[in-house]
Amino acid sequence: MELLSVVGGSRLVGEVRVTGAKNSVLKLMAAALLAEGTTTLLDVPDILDVEIMAELLRRLGCEVTHDQVGGVVAITVPAILDHRADYDLVRRMRASICVLGPLLARCGAAEVALPGGDNIGSRGLDMHVDGLIKLGARAVNEHGYLIASTEKRLRGESVYLDFPSVGATETILMAAVTADGTTVIDNVAREPEIVDICRMLNEMGARIAGVGSSTLTIEGVEELHPVTHRTVPDRIVAGTWAVAAVITQGDITIHNAKVEHLQIALEKLVIAGAVVTEVEDGFRVVMDQRPKAVDIVTLPYPGFPTDLQPQFIALNAIADGAALVTENLFEARFRFVQELARLGADVRTDGHHALVRGRLALSGAPVEATDIRAGAGLVLAGLVADGTTTVYGVSHIDRGYSGFVPDLVRLGAQITRLEEVG
Ligand code: UD1
Repeated sequence: MELLSVVGGSRLVGEVRVTGAKNSVLKLMAAALLAEGTTTLLDVPDILDVEIMAELLRRLGCEVTHDQVGGVVAITVPAILDHRADYDLVRRMRASICVLGPLLARCGAAEVALPGGDNIGSRGLDMHVDGLIKLGARAVNEHGYLIASTEKRLRGESVYLDFPSVGATETILMAAVTADGTTVIDNVAREPEIVDICRMLNEMGARIAGVGSSTLTIEGVEELHPVTHRTVPDRIVAGTWAVAAVITQGDITIHNAKVEHLQIALEKLVIAGAVVTEVEDGFRVVMDQRPKAVDIVTLPYPGFPTDLQPQFIALNAIADGAALVTENLFEARFRFVQELARLGADVRTDGHHALVRGRLALSGAPVEATDIRAGAGLVLAGLVADGTTTVYGVSHIDRGYSGFVPDLVRLGAQITRLEEVG
């Protein structure tokens, strides 16, 4: 088992470049299924989830090559695809569910194992299924698989989402692009990753209007063609580096990052006392004082992202004052607070609220990452804890952060990746 050993106390200073977003590229890879031929994706992060998705596409009959150094993935999609996504892969990554829409559109059938993935709450699929049924599909849950099928082409319809779910928006969108007629999806998610997939689908020949708004109007087309597409930068990785600068009272310039994708999070860092300035292809975060505690409330985009909530709890744990953190998306996301408490953090949770009282110092201890972002939060806390923090569950961090440890070392962190023997 691999683990990270972090010695706290270093100020992080320097420059870092963010790659394309995990939460976009996985969906772009699934969207490639919609067009026969070779789709090429650029700025793909070198992370475990991309490998899992590549393996899933290979099992469906695609050829997939991944140039890890250049960040290029090429997916060659055959005329006839297999339509079953097995449990052994889906259980490793919940995002595998995003092949459901494209497979149904391309093959008229899809069998996708019910997903596992991050251990952060119930994460239902009801809106995905209801949307597909609205477009004319049948869908049943049998033997741990979600089985969807349609005899004819799916047909355009009006679909209203109870909640702007990222996953449900993507499933219905990818099923609708080649449906017969016009689909209107109301109350859709507006995350930059949704905008990215809409852009790629439109480049492929889809006709999606309202991109970036809460209503998407999709005029179905007969077929799509393959394209080359650059993945949108990872705003969560950029946000994690921004918090790293603030928590260590450092100075980090983050390249290939978009201020407009992180508006609220960066404003919170300014309230905490940081100076944030835009540079040509990103922004610089400078901090020269102990941060002030900042309240946060997670909400769908453009609200504060749930994927930055653990990092901000870590920040509040050493801040001046107390902060109320409200989690509205994933009920189990506070699980990591128990690990943070092992470092001496003072956090009390009640339902979907956490009260964080800032401490002057944390003290290094062994901790376990329970999901990707919790892992990032624990590493950040380790950077400011006295002594050594050992982070277990590194595979979670590897699922979402490419080159995290080498980048941290370059910025001045004392962090090493170790193999646990025995
Ligand atoms: C995606 C991101 C994840 C991010 C989240 C919210 C990927 C791979 N993951 O997850 O990192 O934290 O968006 O920004 O892109 N829900 C239902 N029924 C449904 C669908 C969702 O109840 O049919 C609930 C979920 O249980 C959850 C909430 O809605 O509580 C948000 O889910 P959703 O927006 O779909 O997030 P994901 O696509 O799973």
